[in-house]
Amino acid sequence: MPSKNNEEKTYPLGYEPQETPDVVEDNVRNNLLDFILKSGPTEVVDTDLFAVMTKRRSTRKFLDKPVETIKIDKIIAAADTAPTAGNFQGFEIFYVKSPEKKKILVEACNKQPYVDAPVVLVFCKNPSRVKFDFSDDILKKFAIQDATLAAGYSQLAAQALGLSSIWIGMFDEQKIMDVIETDLVPSSVLCIGYPEQTKFPKPRRNLKDLVHVTW
Ligand SMILES: Cc1cc2nc3c(=O)[nH]c(=O)nc-3n(C[C@H](O)[C@H](O)[C@H](O)COP(=O)(O)O)c2cc1C
Repeated sequence: MPSKNNEEKTYPLGYEPQETPDVVEDNVRNNLLDFILKSGPTEVVDTDLFAVMTKRRSTRKFLDKPVETIKIDKIIAAADTAPTAGNFQGFEIFYVKSPEKKKILVEACNKQPYVDAPVVLVFCKNPSRVKFDFSDDILKKFAIQDATLAAGYSQLAAQALGLSSIWIGMFDEQKIMDVIETDLVPSSVLCIGYPEQTKFPKPRRNLKDLVHVTW
């Protein structure tokens, strides 16, 4: 049964989703994120997953056009739908809004100028969330997979919303940690915006080089 949403609002400072639910439903894993995923301008969303995958192409030139809050909400909510080891969700997202900090991030990312994109999300590993009784190495391995998969989900969500993105893996970890003021180690930086132009997807290798069948 739906009930009035009396939950304490737990938005991060400086980021409040555009739409929030009035009522909370039972059996929903996260009322706010679930609401965001289902709400908003569905007409701009490509709901054909395979079309989204087929069309995605890395973009390094973005229009100077802001990304709507509802789209940012959905991109972040999409990350939270990704599987994580033990459902411990061993990752966190830093949404970098400050233009000054974005410029420092450009430097931290080997001077890649497109890191100064309309939306910049830094995905960080948080192995301390992963409460398995395994070695630190295993927990770190889980956390990097959690963070990477979540970023991948966000990247596809961005594409589905008519946006483009570039995945940044070349960076100085410590410099990024200094800018975003965290002890968590980044795994990727996802830069998102409206593309200057739509490009054809890049070619891939032959299936025989991709798949090895083991009987
Ligand atoms: C792990 C990883 C690291 C990457 N690092 C960078 C990077 O630092 N800078 C960059 O411009 N692109 C980076 N890319 C984007 C790739 O260059 C891009 O995905 C690849 O050329 C394939 O193109 P596509 O994404 O259009 O299919 C990275 C991608 C991945 C998955």
